[in-house]
Amino acid sequence: MGELDGRTALVTGGSRGIGRAVALRLAAEGALVAVHYGGNEAGAAETVARIVEAGGRAFAVRALFGESGAVSRLFEGFGAGLKDHGADGLDILVNNAGTHSVCPIEQLTEEEFARVLAINVSTPVFVVQRALPLLRDGGRIINMGSAATRIANPVQIGYTVSKAALAALGPSLANELGRRGITVNTVEPGVVLTDMIGDYATVPEAVAALESITALGRMGLPEDVADVVGFLAGPQGRWVTGQTIDVSGGTYLGPLMPE
Ligand SMILES: NC(=O)c1ccc[n+]([C@@H]2O[C@H](COP(=O)([O-])OP(=O)(O)OC[C@H]3O[C@@H](n4cnc5c(N)ncnc54)[C@H](OP(=O)(O)O)[C@@H]3O)[C@@H](O)[C@H]2O)c1
Repeated sequence: MGELDGRTALVTGGSRGIGRAVALRLAAEGALVAVHYGGNEAGAAETVARIVEAGGRAFAVRALFGESGAVSRLFEGFGAGLKDHGADGLDILVNNAGTHSVCPIEQLTEEEFARVLAINVSTPVFVVQRALPLLRDGGRIINMGSAATRIANPVQIGYTVSKAALAALGPSLANELGRRGITVNTVEPGVVLTDMIGDYATVPEAVAALESITALGRMGLPEDVADVVGFLAGPQGRWVTGQTIDVSGGTYLGPLMPE
């Protein structure tokens, strides 16, 4: 018996990286998981295959965020997938899909800022709006923010603003939905080893610099984040709502004592 048996979950951006780890984690606890992806069909199929091989249940749903009609396509695919599996309703929504944007304020164009806001903010807002009628009492909404909102980094200003906006959804939604036992939280990872960080992990000086300012002394892995999402999604997370939770291994907490 898993603690999410009989539950349904929608994980956006489940085709790779953190979203894949979240999808695997929720499925391992028994949830039927909708693995959303934007363009990487093979990645989503691999996530689904891994879940099924491990004895779980999942299906893939495509919707390219930023395109007109994407949210409708997401929920059409989600509904069809649930039907195929003899299920209905939604218990856990993980707004994980996101895009990076590396450019300082001087180079940020209106087009680039609009792109980032569309994928990282507008889409999750309207995904929540469309999810609410399906979301059962006792449900969960988990938004994937970023520790970039705490740790200043001028070369990703548009991304940082988008993640701050996403985190701002949490408390208001939590207040609105709390009487139904629905919790809403934001998880803020530090640097995590995924495609999003590009070549960062291959530059020893960059990795060493990150490790030197991280209390737990290493870069994050997708599973480090997925376990926190799993906690929030499960029964043990029932009393945590409206919160923003740093999941960075203690990156940039303050000066480390010399050894
Ligand atoms: N990695 C980090 O260091 C880090 C740190 C803090 C926060 N985060 C956040 O964690 C989340 C996951 O990041 P990650 O590192 O796992 O990234 P990733 O490996 O680049 O994966 C991104 C995921 O989002 C989906 N996605 C991206 N743009 C999309 C679009 N326009 N429409 C639909 N889906 C789209 C991708 O789908 P496809 O595979 O189909 O392209 C993929 O599943 C993001 O919100 C990110 O901002 C990451």
